[in-house]
Formats: sequence, structure tokens, C-alpha cells
Amino acid sequence: MALHLLNHSLADHVVTRLRDRGTPPAEFRALCHHVSLLLALEATRDLGVSDVTIETPLESCRGRALTQGLVVVPILRAGLGMVEMIADFFPHVSIGYIGLERDHTTAVARSYYCKLPPLTGARVLVVDPMLATGGSAIQALDVIRAQGGVDLRLLNIVAAPEGVKAVQEAHPEIPIYAAALDRQLNEKKYILPGLGDFGDRLYGT
Ligand code: PRP
Ligand code: URA
Repeated sequence: MALHLLNHSLADHVVTRLRDRGTPPAEFRALCHHVSLLLALEATRDLGVSDVTIETPLESCRGRALTQGLVVVPILRAGLGMVEMIADFFPHVSIGYIGLERDHTTAVARSYYCKLPPLTGARVLVVDPMLATGGSAIQALDVIRAQGGVDLRLLNIVAAPEGVKAVQEAHPEIPIYAAALDRQLNEKKYILPGLGDFGDRLYGT
């Protein structure tokens, strides 16, 4: 399935500020919120609606109301930074959590937490700022599909070609939305040029 890049001047500006090693944690968190909303808007462009009729102060008017539920699932810990702004903008949103942590030497992700709301009929946005090897995203998507998720989207701020390829091979039907597609991974499986460890920069650790 397709990789959708935002191709938006504001998104490019935000990613550039996120990459800058001098950007302080408070600004980093705000930028993360902003670009997450841009990604969510793209990934929900076709969220289910139905026609409704309402009364304006002047007359009857046809409109559209959201009918499809939205579930946001951050991959802990860095994915948490992407949730708040999305949850603020959508009226009916449930949030699930998947905790995964990459081993520093092998870069293989270990699962330490999983709690998901009912998924039936919902659009599920799996949010994680970094798609490096794709191992974390694939584990998360596996779990969500095993628990009944069908209409899934993966949202990343920065994606590496290696991770995109791995996710597309494991879950070819799941669209990926990213603000930037970077060059490659380094020998420690960090993204180049990337922005470093997203979780550390988000939380000042
Ligand atoms: C980072 C990032 C992704 C993962 C991406 O998390 O937030 O979850 O690495 O790498 P992958 O595509 O190779 O799996 P990390 O494991 O560092 O944990 P953290 O969010 O707690 O910092
Ligand atoms: N996780 C990060 O936070 N950054 C990377 O470059 C790769 C994985």
C-alpha cells in the first residue's frame, strides 16, 4: 500500500526545526503536536460520515456528521507525544496503548504493555514518530489486527526507506503517512539524517 508524504511547506518547516539539535524540549513537544495533527488530517480525509439535516438560525441545511469511530494507538513512549493534539480535534476518539522498546544493541523491540479499546468499525491510527527498521510498527500492527482492527493507518513523522519496505512487506494493505522520508539507517539502526532519539528529545532524558 502507498506511502503518503505530506509535501506541505509547514510540515517541512516543522520537521526541519525538529531535526535541529538546538531545538529545546518545550518547542520540540509543540512541533510534535503540530505535525501530528497534519498527519492525522491526511489519514482521516475519508473518515466515515453520514448526511444530516440541521437548523441554522436562518434555515434548514444539509451537512455531514462523522459516524466512524477513531482509535489512536501510540507506540510508547515516543508515540505519546502525537496523541494529545489528535484527541483534541476529533469528537469521538478512543485511545489504546502499546509499549515497545528497542534493545540498544540489537534494535529489536520488546513488548512491555498493551491495552486496546474495542476496535470494531473504527479507523485505527497507529502513531509513532520514528519508523526505522519497522520492527516496532510491525509488532504493533500485528497485535492490533489480531484484536480485530481492520481499517488501519500508520502515522510517522520521519520514516526510513528500510522501515517503509519492511512494513509494506508485512502489511501491504496498510497505508503509511509520513512527514519526511529520510536517506537510510546507520549501523546502530538510527535514521539518517533523522533527528536522534525522539523519545529522549521529547522528554528531555
Ligand atoms: C523508537 C521509536 C519507535 C522505534 C522505531 O522507540 O519511537 O518506536 O524506536 O524503531 P524501529 O522501527 O527500528 O522499531 P524506542 O524503542 O527508542 O523507545 P522509546 O519510544 O521509549 O524511546
Ligand atoms: N528511534 C528513534 O528515536 N530515532 C531513530 O533514529 C531510530 C529509532
